[in-house]
Amino acid sequence: MASSSVIFQIALVLLSLTDSGLSHGVGINYGQIANNLPSPSRVAILLRSLNISRVKLYDADPSVLVAFSNTNVDFIIGLGNEYLENMTDPLKAQAWIEEHVSPHLLQTKITCITVGNEIFNSNDTGLMSNLLPAMQTVYTSLVNLGLDKQVAVTTAHSLAILGNSYPPSSGTFRQDLAEYLQPLLSFHAQTKSPFLINAYPYFAYKDNPGEVPLEYVLFLPNQGMTDPITNLHYDNMLYAQLDAVYSAIRAMGHTDIEVRISETGWPSKGDANEAGATPENAGLYNGNLLRRIEQRQGTPAKPSVPIDIYVFALFNEDLKPGPASERNYGLYYPDGSPVYDIGLQGYLPELTISSATATAINALSIFYFLIFLVTCSICS
Ligand SMILES: *[C@@H]1O[C@H](CO)[C@@H](O)[C@H](O)[C@H]1NC(C)=O
Ligand SMILES: *[C@@H]1O[C@H](CO)[C@@H](O)[C@H](O)[C@H]1NC(C)=O
Ligand SMILES: *[C@@H]1O[C@H](CO)[C@@H](O)[C@H](O)[C@H]1NC(C)=O
Repeated sequence: MASSSVIFQIALVLLSLTDSGLSHGVGINYGQIANNLPSPSRVAILLRSLNISRVKLYDADPSVLVAFSNTNVDFIIGLGNEYLENMTDPLKAQAWIEEHVSPHLLQTKITCITVGNEIFNSNDTGLMSNLLPAMQTVYTSLVNLGLDKQVAVTTAHSLAILGNSYPPSSGTFRQDLAEYLQPLLSFHAQTKSPFLINAYPYFAYKDNPGEVPLEYVLFLPNQGMTDPITNLHYDNMLYAQLDAVYSAIRAMGHTDIEVRISETGWPSKGDANEAGATPENAGLYNGNLLRRIEQRQGTPAKPSVPIDIYVFALFNEDLKPGPASERNYGLYYPDGSPVYDIGLQGYLPELTISSATATAINALSIFYFLIFLVTCSICS
């Protein structure tokens, strides 16, 4: 045990010298609807080996937030849809923050809370009506606790909130959602929080594989599309979707809100009727996307604003309901091996150690290192 721990520690040291290097902050969704995932402390090492420093959770799992103590990883945490009603109550909202956010802030960077996920896809008008009040109440609680400058409040939307997305300059929200979205946008503008959208060109391809060119959705060379109104040229669907959201927001009178992609990805496997769900296509989508993020590309309508993206997802999640694709969006299998090769060979350690043990081992390895230096200077 002792010797394997030392090896483990040495691996960590080597790791920090040879970061495999995602240089420009791609984020990753760390979903946990599975019964076979590695422990959060092993995942912390995997992400460090990949130089991934932005993580999005769907909850506020304390075991994850504690495992990432002192790692410099920036977290978006989530309040599930089932919390919306309670979060409209100021006492419950403040209690939730005091229990799930405040205790972690000294060791773990939590920069954002998503209140609900894809609420306008739920067909549940009760949830829709509670969304903004819940966001406002959570925000007010943060203000009262003096945390509003470090933690932003938002929610994540499905792209299906768009009524029109083509051409991108004519993007608009669904008419029936205007009563909810207009005040929601004012909230974003007032609190300077980002508008989050889950955008999957894969869905457009899967629904219409005969019409949508695969090259256009996979960031491969293709003739693309020119927006007839702006003359802007689009070489991929994701950027067109993002600009359609900017247009929809502008159509409601706002040019002051930042849009980020809270989820995008491509499944490596699907059912027989899920066209395009292959490891080759998933590797092309995510690999090409990472290159564009690294180049800090903006969209045609916002060329100077680098796209800000959380890839979906870190692991395949075996307990997700729905079609097979749902369980196969991961970049990694639960054992830490990549599902396909996009140059992200991470390191998932076999064993985990408590931080007290780690500190002891650290001291021990410094001691060994000193002996090593002394021996070297003697022998040379
Ligand atoms: C790791 O990522 C950070 C930003 O997220 C970047 O500044 C740094 O250069 C990256 N390191 C490597 C080795 O790519
Ligand atoms: C909402 O509040 C009620 C009453 O305090 C509590 O029983 C319930 O568990 C809460 N719901 C959630 C999802 O936390
Ligand atoms: C919402 O309603 C639409 C139309 O009735 C339906 O197609 C869709 O599946 C429903 N969504 C959910 C999440 O129930």
